[in-house]
Amino acid sequence: MKAIILAAGEGKRMQSDLQKVMHPILGKPMVRYVVDVAKEAGASAITVVVGKGGDEIEKGLEGCEGLSFAVQKVPLGTGDAVKAGAGSIAPNDDVLVLCGDMPLVTAEFLTEFAAFARSGGGAEAVVAAVYKPDVADFGRVYDDNGDFVEIVEARDITAAHSHTDWANTGIYMFKGESLLSGLARLKNTNSQQEYYLTDVPKLLREEGKRVRVFHSREDLSVFTGINTQVQLAEAVRFMRERINAAHMMAGVRMIDPSSVYIDSAVKISRGAVIYPAVILEGNCEISENAVIGANCQLTDTIVGAGANVKHSVCAGAKIGAGTDVGPFAYLRPGAVIGEKCRVGNFVEVKNATLGNGTKMAHLSYIGDADVGSGVNYSCGAITANYDGKNKFRTKIGDNAFIGSNANLIAPIEIGENGFVAAGSTLTDDLPPRALGIARQRQSIKADWAK
Ligand code: UD1
Ligand code: CA
Repeated sequence: MKAIILAAGEGKRMQSDLQKVMHPILGKPMVRYVVDVAKEAGASAITVVVGKGGDEIEKGLEGCEGLSFAVQKVPLGTGDAVKAGAGSIAPNDDVLVLCGDMPLVTAEFLTEFAAFARSGGGAEAVVAAVYKPDVADFGRVYDDNGDFVEIVEARDITAAHSHTDWANTGIYMFKGESLLSGLARLKNTNSQQEYYLTDVPKLLREEGKRVRVFHSREDLSVFTGINTQVQLAEAVRFMRERINAAHMMAGVRMIDPSSVYIDSAVKISRGAVIYPAVILEGNCEISENAVIGANCQLTDTIVGAGANVKHSVCAGAKIGAGTDVGPFAYLRPGAVIGEKCRVGNFVEVKNATLGNGTKMAHLSYIGDADVGSGVNYSCGAITANYDGKNKFRTKIGDNAFIGSNANLIAPIEIGENGFVAAGSTLTDDLPPRALGIARQRQSIKADWAK
């Protein structure tokens, strides 16, 4: 089976500089969902038909195997778009036609539809219709006991048309030869002066070829087409519900899934708990029994087993097993936190590794550093890693103690078990086990306050 995905429409109603089908739904461009389900349902070669700005779409689909692109220069209708994409269709091919702006279509539906088309007793075309009694938007499908009669666009319905409960999903299967011959004979004599793909099955039927209608009882949401930002938000909701339900079915506990946004590529293990108002973006991985507390936004972050993250923002970070993060911690790219660590409130870590059991409980900063295990990094301590031009690294050995409000001016190395006195500004390396103290002695002026 080959597939043609239509994505050359102008998408004017999105009112957006971004190509319509490149709008993301939980971290993945909508057209990518369509490509993925087409593949899952068995399409071996897929042609995406793009229009103006199509290179943006090609870029967005980089890395997808088995894809080729065809250009429809001017959007003259769905039939014209399929024609543009039919260059590599051979007479014996089964051709599945899909729209790039219908990201909620499932592989299960397509598989069922393809099986129906195969068992259709030699049908040259099959149209997928969905139960939708109200006439808005979609084309109306007329059939006679499953034999296709015609599709009339909603805008072209007149009083002379009888009522039908069935709407055109915009999903079709064609035999290659019939598709090519039908496309060659399309005319644009309709209210929009467009070449309608929906006229192809009609032409085939008029020739006496067998054309069938597949009546789907799938939920209408599966066929949500996206034309506006409002519909995009609706699609995000449907997809979110689907993704969250799949995680819950796999043993993830969610207190309030209606407030949880999980990107399509995120992996969560059984036994993890997700609190309300959590956003997990990109390639996050949450291990078993980890707890992601309320109001966390995690991007491309790996959370170890049993770790606990609260009210925090983490991007490109790795959090070891059993580690506590937050509330109000900020882990930036390259933050690699060991096991059983504590990264507490108002702590920022950037491009730094922390060994197991290291604690930075509150109000501190570590950037560009290699910190050993069992280190105590006290309140207010910072690495001064930037001199206005260059960044420098700090090294802190195992079990070192960095006192409150210490400034470690990088490049610098604090040896194992080294002890930095509170309030010290260190510019030189501290040998192992040594005390580094760099602050002024206190002087007392008796009765001065009078
Ligand atoms: C189409 C169907 C309608 C069906 C509906 C389902 C026709 C004539 N009508 O209507 O029966 O109920 O889909 O969603 O086919 N496109 C191109 N090039 C073009 C025009 C469109 O690539 O010249 C692409 C669009 O990017 C989109 C898809 O084709 O992905 C559907 O086009 P759209 O204009 O949205 O068709 P509808 O009016 O919704
Ligand atoms: Ca549409």
